[in-house]
Amino acid sequence: MALTATNLEGTLPLIAKGKVRDIYSIDDSTLLFVATDRISAYDVIMKNGIPDKGKLLTQISKFWFSILGDVCPNHLITCDISSLPESVQTYKDQLQDRSMLVRKYKILPIEAIVRGYLTGSAWKEYKKTGTVHGIKIRAGMQESEAFDTPIYTPSTKADLGDHDENIHPDEAVKIVGEENAKKIADLALKLYIKAKDYAATRGIIIADTKFEFGVDESGNIVLVDEVLTPDSSRFWRADAYAVGTGQDSYDKQFLRNWLTSSGLAYKDDVEMPADIAIKTKDKYVEAFEQLTGSRWTN
Ligand SMILES: Nc1ncnc2c1ncn2[C@@H]1O[C@H](COP(=O)(O)OP(=O)(O)O)[C@@H](O)[C@H]1O
Ligand SMILES: [Mg+2]
Repeated sequence: MALTATNLEGTLPLIAKGKVRDIYSIDDSTLLFVATDRISAYDVIMKNGIPDKGKLLTQISKFWFSILGDVCPNHLITCDISSLPESVQTYKDQLQDRSMLVRKYKILPIEAIVRGYLTGSAWKEYKKTGTVHGIKIRAGMQESEAFDTPIYTPSTKADLGDHDENIHPDEAVKIVGEENAKKIADLALKLYIKAKDYAATRGIIIADTKFEFGVDESGNIVLVDEVLTPDSSRFWRADAYAVGTGQDSYDKQFLRNWLTSSGLAYKDDVEMPADIAIKTKDKYVEAFEQLTGSRWTN
């Protein structure tokens, strides 16, 4: 069974519901992040969920936080639910393996995207104008080709229901200020490069990814949110990679294809058929196993 919503029955205040996560307040400086099995495509949440998806996302993020800990501090306190308040211990079945206790920060309203490969909206823009997020890119590149060096291509962080908008790095300066903009651009690139070098050893290409950052009271930048999951990144199998065409990815491609071919893209309240849900789950499991080298035994 997929868990599409949590219900801790008033034990903790639910302060936000994202597309995937239910966020509870523990105290002024601590949040409980519970990744549900909700899935969104084209920014619309499906009616049913993908069994275990929230657990897989949580375990993938946890894995990356440990690998990337030396690049910059992050918000994770623990994934161990025995450190949660007594009052929620009875909701173990909803929380186990899918919760993260995190430090709460002021979020910088920028999606810090890094792209190593020319694909998706970047490829569309490049074909039209020779630019990516307004940045001039060398001529003659093909779809899915690697950039000469990874590029930082931020977008705005839209409210629930709105769409993020690709922006030039100079626009990000206007939103978060010069100092923060410079720091997050630099950190996002360092994090991406470390992660993609690791993933390459596991046969995975991280084509692009999105990070979010917060600031603490002293102005230090902290890595927050989920990191390097199939929801926030494009993972490609290295053994199937070919330049000059679109790549299959470890993510929602089945779902997107099904939505498009059934004319349901962007529609609300869509129920996925069981085979689409199962195939999608398999992709998340594959990403977890391939990246971490561990079996998914849940
Ligand atoms: N440490 C943190 N402190 C405060 N807010 C956070 C922190 N980490 C992530 N967030 C916010 O929590 C939300 C995560 O839930 P999610 O379901 O992924 O939402 P979304 O639909 O915005 O992607 C995001 O809006 C993110 O900006
Ligand atoms: Mg999110």
